Amino acid sequence: MSSSAEKTPRRRVAILGATGSIGSNAVAVVRAYSDRFETVCVTCRNHGELLQVIANELNARYFYCSEQPGFSNLASESELYSLLAGPEVDIVLCAIQGIDALKEVLTALRAGKTVCLATKEVLVAAGAWVMATARKYGGRILPVDSEHCAVFQCLHREEKRALRRIILTCSGGPFHAHPERDLHTVTPEEAGHHPAWNMGGKITLDSATLMNKAFEIMEAAWLYGVPEDQIEVVVHPQAVVHSMVEFVDGAVMAQLGPTDMKLPIQYCLTYPERCPALMQPLDFTRPMALEFLPPDTRRFPALELARRALRMGGLTGAVLNAANDSACRRFREGTLAFDEIAPAVACALDHTPPGEADSFEALATAAQVADDIVGNYMP
Ligand SMILES: NC(=O)c1ccc[n+]([C@@H]2O[C@H](COP(=O)([O-])OP(=O)(O)OC[C@H]3O[C@@H](n4cnc5c(N)ncnc54)[C@H](OP(=O)(O)O)[C@@H]3O)[C@@H](O)[C@H]2O)c1
Repeated sequence: MSSSAEKTPRRRVAILGATGSIGSNAVAVVRAYSDRFETVCVTCRNHGELLQVIANELNARYFYCSEQPGFSNLASESELYSLLAGPEVDIVLCAIQGIDALKEVLTALRAGKTVCLATKEVLVAAGAWVMATARKYGGRILPVDSEHCAVFQCLHREEKRALRRIILTCSGGPFHAHPERDLHTVTPEEAGHHPAWNMGGKITLDSATLMNKAFEIMEAAWLYGVPEDQIEVVVHPQAVVHSMVEFVDGAVMAQLGPTDMKLPIQYCLTYPERCPALMQPLDFTRPMALEFLPPDTRRFPALELARRALRMGGLTGAVLNAANDSACRRFREGTLAFDEIAPAVACALDHTPPGEADSFEALATAAQVADDIVGNYMP
């Protein structure tokens, strides 16, 4: 698109989870900027046909569908890992849903690659391990999550000691603005509609319980090395301010923009350059009211669980993530009420096994404990 971009070699990108909500936004970005990006590889779990269409469209040399080998031209996971770690890939954009992304993320970081990370669960469950790996091998994580991308931009070139607090904005999900709504009777269909963002099913449900924001507290703590009491959450229903940073002198920097995940994806993929956006900018010629409200932590106790997990450390984040997966599954199956998700997760946190989240075995043990506790949870 720009003449300067034509002179620099194209960045070679792997898009993991290319068939999902973030993945398809990433596909739209690399398609629009084909002069800047070469898509080397696309992956998914079980939408092989769609993956094939995407691979053809982007001219991707490699495609891998973990559950449908017939739609893959890489023979195995280990071939995928070799590709991610090898010389054909510069940037790994990780948009896989859930902790299954951890192997891919660690593989890329160990190879010193740049990982544009949407999958917050890897930081929730194994933040210390992931960050230590990045440091040890010179890998870099660029946050795709809109709040953390906003914080990244606000912190640009600022001294860490000048930071007083990170303020994560939160749209509040479908129920925060309705205190009269009995959360006990919320159905999966109702919890599956987000007022501001169009996202995958799991993160939409997590946004309704505010567990997504809890995860984002942990994500911010790991990405920016900040204790939980320096991370605040503020409900901002318009979702125009994507997050803010307050400095010791009281100055607050905010990043504003359209509600579209293509923006943070594009920012990460082109970093440190900025390039023209694909969508209409904010229109300040029209009246625009921005509200900021405290979160209702009594109705939405998930936020406190993240703080507790950060204070406790060890495997608590892994238990939090796995327990939430189990509780969400039970909610969808109809055996747990919406307002019982956070209490079931809290119960699992009480049974966190000892040890650190520094191996796949430890994470699997924590996940099993969490699943058992939530599976047997009786409100
Ligand atoms: N959506 C958003 O706006 C948003 C914003 C910020 C952060 N995030 C984070 O980004 C991640 C993805 O969210 P999403 O909303 O895009 O999810 P999604 O729409 O459910 O898409 C998930 C993608 O991951 C693939 N996938 C799932 N499990 C996999 C596995 N075990 N191995 C390989 N691929 C697998 C899926 O493949 P199939 O299609 O074949 O199942 C799909 O391509 C989540 O961690 C979420 O928290 C999302």
